[in-house]
Amino acid sequence: MTPLASDLDSATTITPASKPSALLTAIQLNKTVQVGEQKLSIIKDVDIYVNAGEFVVIMGKSGSGKSTLLALLAALDYPDSGSVELAGQTLSNLDEDALAVIRQRDMGFVFQSFHLLPTLTVAENIAFPLDIARRPNKARVNELIEAVDLGHRRDSLPNQLSGGEQQRTAVARALVSQPKIVFADEPTGNLDEQNANQVMQLLLDLRQKTGSALVVVTHDAALAEMADRVITMHDGRIVS
Ligand SMILES: Nc1ncnc2c1ncn2[C@@H]1O[C@H](COP(=O)(O)OP(=O)(O)OP(=O)(O)O)[C@@H](O)[C@H]1O
Ligand SMILES: [Mg+2]
Repeated sequence: MTPLASDLDSATTITPASKPSALLTAIQLNKTVQVGEQKLSIIKDVDIYVNAGEFVVIMGKSGSGKSTLLALLAALDYPDSGSVELAGQTLSNLDEDALAVIRQRDMGFVFQSFHLLPTLTVAENIAFPLDIARRPNKARVNELIEAVDLGHRRDSLPNQLSGGEQQRTAVARALVSQPKIVFADEPTGNLDEQNANQVMQLLLDLRQKTGSALVVVTHDAALAEMADRVITMHDGRIVS
């Protein structure tokens, strides 16, 4: 769905602070990196919110800060200033252990380059988030393996899989613990059209079933069409 002018208006006039019901709220995020002598500002005064169950797409040119922003929202990286709140809890001042618990319980991640654990099988990779959270659930793992159509591959290692199969495994792993929010950085970027469609359909189906919010960085216009809201970045800022 292309955002209507009225949606864009409301996105720019409603400040995150006035959206108390949002699942995820980030306020005035800033991030700098040190490059040689210089301090480069790569995220600038970003305000963003994501409602429960919402599908938000982040677009923008290469280098505009999309992956950096996603890492800040997912508390994989700390901002220099600003705060991120998930379900009413401020993440920016929690330590690494507390964040790990929240990531395991409430978040799912899909990376462009899959990030599967090479020595674990498909089934073990999918089970991994539940196992490290000490909540093993074979039935749930089997359900996900079937949902991503990998029953015949459950005992294969990642290097024995095609790119599409690896990404489907990564999607199943991201969703296995029924997270409140799933972050995906170009989840279809490495895939051919057929696999890209399958991966996207899967994310949308599972979102429908579990009510997880989705925050997806993509260059894919077809994907943006399906989003509830499209956020565009330019040079470290949100421009629409
Ligand atoms: N650790 C770092 N040190 C120096 N510069 C960095 C670092 N991380 C990111 N950058 C720079 O910050 C900017 C934003 O990077 P980011 O990876 O967020 O872009 P992106 O929008 O995800 O791009 P792409 O579409 O190519 O993935 C880029 O100019 C990048 O070179
Ligand atoms: Mg990126």
